[in-house]
Amino acid sequence: MSGPAGTPRRTEPVPPVAVTLGTTEQLGPAQLAAGCRLCEVAFAGECFGDEDWRHALGGVHALVHDDGRLVAHGALVPRRFLHGGRVLRVGYVEAVAVDPGLRRRGLGSAVMAALEESVRRDHDAGALSATDDGAALYAARGWLRWSGTTWALTPSGRVRTEDDDGSVFVLPGDVGLDVAAELTCDWREGDLW
Ligand SMILES: CC(C)(COP(=O)(O)OP(=O)(O)OC[C@H]1O[C@@H](n2cnc3c(N)ncnc32)[C@H](O)[C@@H]1OP(=O)(O)O)[C@@H](O)C(=O)NCCC(=O)NCCS
Repeated sequence: MSGPAGTPRRTEPVPPVAVTLGTTEQLGPAQLAAGCRLCEVAFAGECFGDEDWRHALGGVHALVHDDGRLVAHGALVPRRFLHGGRVLRVGYVEAVAVDPGLRRRGLGSAVMAALEESVRRDHDAGALSATDDGAALYAARGWLRWSGTTWALTPSGRVRTEDDDGSVFVLPGDVGLDVAAELTCDWREGDLW
């Protein structure tokens, strides 16, 4: 069986993967440049620009290296969402990327496991906007697809973001979430979700 990107299904047990965690400040310019390059390669078919990389900065990064080379990356940045009349402290997942030659070996899962630990420790909930490849990974890890409507707080008020309906996933923490209700994200330049 193959995934959409032609990645063969795993047939052997996956050995433990060593994940390094660091804040954007701790990573420094060289590691950040390597992370951005990996995303550009990994998202090949889809557009990944400077704005997308900037969305991945300001929180924590999970990194996997192979012989000193960065082969997997993911980031968790703090955001504020509105849901059910309250403000949620959300850990938002960005720039999850695995070297195209090393997929379906558990690297994406290892990155996500590290970020999910941080979501559970430091945030009310996790959230992200998924690609098709990503959706399979997140659903396999217990993330829930948001079936309700999505919105954003913008300088001109709260607006519907209907193009993003169906691609948002959440990881509930201690706070109850009604995934069939409304979810509103905070404002930022570029893609809001
Ligand atoms: C999405 C991505 C990060 C997954 O990384 P990965 O290292 O291949 O993921 P894993 O090996 O940990 O996969 C774990 C499970 O997720 C699911 N999964 C992951 N990729 C999948 C795919 N392409 N098709 C179907 N299921 C998939 C499977 O259940 C898999 O378990 P299995 O291999 O035992 O069947 C990788 O495909 C990638 O970099 N894609 C391009 C960038 C991208 O779309 N990033 C996501 C942004 S939201």
